[in-house]
Amino acid sequence: MLEKIANESKRNGIESMLSANSGAKNKLVHLLECIVSNVGPYTEFMLSEIKGYLAHTSNIYQTFVKTEKDKVLFYEELNLFLDERIKNFKRFEQGFRKNNGQSRPIGQTLDALYLLNIGIDLKDKYTYGHMEHVAECANKLGEYFNLPHEKIIILTSAAREHDIGKILTPNYILNKPGKLDEEELKIMNRHAEDGKKILASIIPLSIKNRDEFLDLVGSHHVNCFFLKDEEKNLLKGILSAADAFSAMSSDRPYRKKDRSEIIMGEFKKYSGSQFHPDVVEAITKKGVLDMHVSRN
Ligand SMILES: [Fe+2]
Ligand SMILES: [Fe+2]
Repeated sequence: MLEKIANESKRNGIESMLSANSGAKNKLVHLLECIVSNVGPYTEFMLSEIKGYLAHTSNIYQTFVKTEKDKVLFYEELNLFLDERIKNFKRFEQGFRKNNGQSRPIGQTLDALYLLNIGIDLKDKYTYGHMEHVAECANKLGEYFNLPHEKIIILTSAAREHDIGKILTPNYILNKPGKLDEEELKIMNRHAEDGKKILASIIPLSIKNRDEFLDLVGSHHVNCFFLKDEEKNLLKGILSAADAFSAMSSDRPYRKKDRSEIIMGEFKKYSGSQFHPDVVEAITKKGVLDMHVSRN
């Protein structure tokens, strides 16, 4: 389901409409940041409302905007809309707070998740691609361990959204070429808990396995070894190893991707401390992720 949402954003033209105008793109990202940094039960509603507007605008863009003059007028309008939304954000927030506690149809939840995925893709392409890559790797590992189908769905969905909280991390920290200082690290480390809060404001209480999904997202940087529950321990172990595997096998502004032997060496070195030993064995001896090195 979540995969469908992510793929949809590429197809429906919203992405290309926004990519052609950096002012509108940055304003939309800022607006989304405003909304999700004030997470509450109204978040889902506000995100869905903006998604409705964007889908409508994207239709107009594809159908009517042909000449350079059309484009100038179109982006003027779009920028005005986004400016207005940002300016009135506090007022909206107050109004939507009155809707607290109302349960909403699943369609709105999917709309909101879909828009969050567009938001993170526009803000930082690497993070969006990384979340997809971690989902693929976690899925492979889940299948290798013969986890029940339901657990694989929870694991893969959590992996697909695990860094969504980075929509609130400033770009200068996300893309800093050097090492983060203490204060920057503190801000960066908030993303797991932020992601959990954002998703909690969107996923209805009635959804089965909601808590387990949110717990995985919120604790994806927490060392899993103090947990007593074996199964939870393995799910967390898989997510954290898939996360590390994807990060080590990708190029980032602050480091080049590592060669396969170095990645395997790191897993072996930290087996039983940072990484779950069974997962390390699956990756290093059985080669479960051999075909899943990052594409960037
Ligand atoms: Fe993370
Ligand atoms: Fe990550």
